[in-house]
Amino acid sequence: MLNLRTGMKMKKHGLEKLAVLMTGVLCLVIIMNNNEFEDVEDVTSPSKDTYEIPYKHINLPKSATLQPSFPSCEQDVNAANVTGFSKLPHHVQDFLLYRHCREFPMLQEVPTKCGGPKNSADVFLLLVIKSSPENYDRRQVLRKTWAKEQQHKGLWMRRIFIIGTSGTGFDKQRLNKLVKLENDENQDILQWDFNDTFFNLTLKQILFLQWMDRWCPQARFLLNGDDDIFANTFNMVEYLQGQEGNDGSKHLFTGHLIQNVGPIRHPASKYYIPVQVQESERYPPYCGGGGFLLSGFTARTIYNMSHSITILPIDDVYMGMCLEKAGLHPESHFGVRTAGLYIPSQNVDTFHPCYYREIILVHRFLPHQIFVMWNEILDPNLKCGADFSL
Ligand SMILES: *[C@@H]1O[C@H](CO)[C@@H](O)[C@H](O)[C@H]1NC(C)=O
Ligand SMILES: *[C@@H]1O[C@H](CO)[C@@H](O)[C@H](O)[C@H]1NC(C)=O
Ligand SMILES: *[C@@H]1O[C@H](CO)[C@@H](O)[C@H](O)[C@H]1NC(C)=O
Ligand SMILES: *[C@@H]1O[C@H](CO)[C@@H](O)[C@H](O)[C@H]1NC(C)=O
Repeated sequence: MLNLRTGMKMKKHGLEKLAVLMTGVLCLVIIMNNNEFEDVEDVTSPSKDTYEIPYKHINLPKSATLQPSFPSCEQDVNAANVTGFSKLPHHVQDFLLYRHCREFPMLQEVPTKCGGPKNSADVFLLLVIKSSPENYDRRQVLRKTWAKEQQHKGLWMRRIFIIGTSGTGFDKQRLNKLVKLENDENQDILQWDFNDTFFNLTLKQILFLQWMDRWCPQARFLLNGDDDIFANTFNMVEYLQGQEGNDGSKHLFTGHLIQNVGPIRHPASKYYIPVQVQESERYPPYCGGGGFLLSGFTARTIYNMSHSITILPIDDVYMGMCLEKAGLHPESHFGVRTAGLYIPSQNVDTFHPCYYREIILVHRFLPHQIFVMWNEILDPNLKCGADFSL
C-alpha cells in the first residue's frame, strides 16, 4: 500500500507551531461552518418546489467544511535520480517530483451537494465536470443547459465542477475570487489548491473520489466528463434507468472504449509518457476521458483501488488501471462520441439537432453551440426522419 501521507514530511520543530495554528484554524472552520448552515437554507433553496433534497435537516459532523490547511507536499528529491531526468520536458520532471502528493487543502467545498452522505442515494445522476478556474463561460452555459440540476422521469440530477488553481500571484488570487463568487451563488464547485494542469488530472479525479467517499457515497450513477462536451443528460437518465437489476450498486463503466494501445513515446505529444513514468508498453482497456458513465459502486471501487496504484498522469488510462486491478471491464457505448461525430453525407449541417437527439455525449462543443443545441433538441416540434440515423 502506498502511504497517502508519505509526501508530507514535516520538520519536528515546526510541529508545535503547527498544532497551535491548527487549533486556530479548526475553531475558524467550526465558526464558518455554522454560518454555512444558515447560508445553506437561504442560498441553496432558491425555489422550494425545485429542490426536494432536504438540505437543512442534515446532521453534518462539526468538522464539515474546509479542511484545515496543512504543510504543502514537498518534492521527492530522489525522483530526480532516475536516468535521463534532466533531459525530460519540464512538465514531466514536475510530475515525477510531485507524483506522490495526494492531499491538498480544499478552497471551495459543497458538503451538502448530495443532501449529506445518508441522503445521497436520492441523487440518481451526479454530473462530475472537470473544469479549470478560467473556464467561467463554459460553466455558466452548462448550468443553464444539460447540467441544470433538475428531475427527469422523477430522478434527480446534481452538478459539481472539480477544479484546481491556475496562474500564480495576483492572477491566481483573482481567479480564486471568481471561483468563490461563483460558488457562493451556485454551490457547485469543489476546488483544491493544486496547479490545474493536464498532468494533474488524475490527481483531480482521485481528490474527487475521496470527496465522494465522504459526502456523496450513495449516488447511483455518475457522468464524469470535460466542460466542453455536449451531453444529452435526459437520454443518460433513461439509459441508466433501463439498466436491469442495477440501481448503481453493481458495476457499470461505459463510454468511448479504447483498447490495445500503449504510451505515446513522442516527446512533442501532449500525451507523451516516457519510460521514466511508465515502463510497460501496454495500457489497459479504458474509456476516453472526454466523458463516460459509471455506477456509484464502480466509482467506490476505483477509489479503493487507487490507494495502491501509483499515479499515471493520463487520467482516463488511470481509471482503466483501477478497473483492471479490481477485475472489472470498461464497456463501449454507441451514443458516446468523444472522438466527434462522423456524419456520412456532405452538404448537411453537421450541427443539425436531429443528429444529436439519440446520442448521449459528444466532445468539443463551444459554449454558444451547446446553448443552441440544448434548446433545439428539447423542442417538441422537432421532427427527425430516417435521414438522420448515424
Ligand atoms: C539521489 O541523489 C542524491 C544526490 O544527488 C543523493 O543524495 C541521494 O542519496 C540519491 N538517492 C537515491 C535513492 O539514490
Ligand atoms: C500538480 O500540482 C502540484 C501542486 O500545485 C504541483 O506542485 C505540481 O507541479 C503539479 N504537477 C504538474 C505535473 O503540473
Ligand atoms: C504552479 O505552476 C506555476 C506555473 O504555471 C509555477 O510557477 C508554480 O510554482 C506552480 N506551483 C506549484 C505549487 O508547483
Ligand atoms: C472499499 O474498501 C473498503 C475497506 O477496505 C470496503 O469496506 C469496501 O467494501 C470497499 N468498497 C468497494 C466498492 O470495493
